[in-house]
Amino acid sequence: MSPRTLIRDATVVLPGEDARTSVLLDGGRIAAIDAAPHTRADEVVDAAGLHLLPGVIDDQVHFRDPGLTHKEDLRTGSMACAAGGVTSFLEMPNTVPQTVTVDALAAKLALASRRCVVNYGFYIGATTDNLAELQRAGRTPGVATPGIKIFIGSSTGNMLVDDQERLEEIFAETTLPITAHCEDESTVRANRSRLEARGPLTVHDHSRIRDHRAAVTATRRAIDLAVRHRHRFHVLHVSTAEEVGILAAHHDLVTAEACPHHLFLDTSDYGRLGTLAQMNPSLKSPEDRAALWQGLRDGALQIVATDHAPHTLEEKAAAYPASPSGVPAVEIVLPLMLDRVNRGACTLQDLARWMSDGPARIWDIVGKGRIAEGYDADLVLVDLSLAREVRNEEQITKCAWSPWHGTTLRGWPVRTWVGGRTVFARGAHGTGGTDASGGAGTPHSAHARNTNPAFVETMPVGGEITFDHARGGYWATEM
Ligand code: DOR
Repeated sequence: MSPRTLIRDATVVLPGEDARTSVLLDGGRIAAIDAAPHTRADEVVDAAGLHLLPGVIDDQVHFRDPGLTHKEDLRTGSMACAAGGVTSFLEMPNTVPQTVTVDALAAKLALASRRCVVNYGFYIGATTDNLAELQRAGRTPGVATPGIKIFIGSSTGNMLVDDQERLEEIFAETTLPITAHCEDESTVRANRSRLEARGPLTVHDHSRIRDHRAAVTATRRAIDLAVRHRHRFHVLHVSTAEEVGILAAHHDLVTAEACPHHLFLDTSDYGRLGTLAQMNPSLKSPEDRAALWQGLRDGALQIVATDHAPHTLEEKAAAYPASPSGVPAVEIVLPLMLDRVNRGACTLQDLARWMSDGPARIWDIVGKGRIAEGYDADLVLVDLSLAREVRNEEQITKCAWSPWHGTTLRGWPVRTWVGGRTVFARGAHGTGGTDASGGAGTPHSAHARNTNPAFVETMPVGGEITFDHARGGYWATEM
């Protein structure tokens, strides 16, 4: 059982207002807000001067497990989540084997139940010939998934589906929500051949190969499919101003997200970071970056997600274009955003909407994403005044680097609860593991109909939480 915990005197980010109050956690849920200061509890946390937010829900991570676990695994990826205040993640199918069958999905869920310290869910990936599996995934009891991932544009893992007939079939004949990586393959190939003809490629060419046109063409194409088939659709990692404009017109059926690398970096960072700034979709201009922030403020983009995509430093050191695309971010996304709050560029209410309530609504994750009575006790306590430098050697992610190495950020998580149990605490005492039961999916709008309930699972983590001095926090012991 999760302990009865009183978090006293925090500034609590409630739906619509921040309030200085106390929150009681019991039985894995938020039992009371504005609890009496002397309520009986197993632990009282004095949170004066700190802010309590709903745990972050990250709807796009690549945790490489099974098959590519030299880069990351579900244990290290979920521990990095805990340190970053991410209490639920949805993971992508480009593992080895790929998650493209109901059996592979079931195997991944079983693996996660043993390895994860935060809540998890897994997409099923589309291929050119797995329609029956995509259909089955929507109605197989006990093997739940938030939706179908399509790579309409190739990236890590050879999962490209860009044949129009196949795409029509998937949008027409499946019921789960669809999400996609949108970069137009023929544009990418044509750009690449043109540039290769001029001489050896450098990493600066990555944004010329995967250019604006590639992103916009594929996003338009995918939205057209969603609209014609009236299929609930979410655009992953939007990178251009033009896509933001297109998305503003399709609110009812199509949702979209921005990632920290596109929000905080741009093409001017290649000189400094080299291939550490290489990801798909590529970095764009400072003007695109500004348009993404505006899109979040206007609601054309609803959420922030990481696209956490770890590769080792050795792999990233290969000469472009042999270097792999992707950057890690789950443990750094919240500090990056809190730093923006400290600079007055957005509010904690914005963060709660973009990073917790928004993803819960988009993916129909009931009982998560808000600090409200009866909701799951998935929470993160942050210290807005704490300034720390991001250091590669302190990263929990197995790849052990960050594009923000050397950057000082103000605003860091100090403690994270999943289902009322502490999964991370910075230099303070904590107890627990995680064992509550997961949320269940229900529709949040006429178009957002997830027919597959309970796709976000909360895992039982056995053993004690022990303090790890090297990592500066409390961690569940290995099982
Ligand atoms: O840069 C990326 N890396 N983008 C993706 O879509 C996939 C990811 C990966 O898995 O490495």
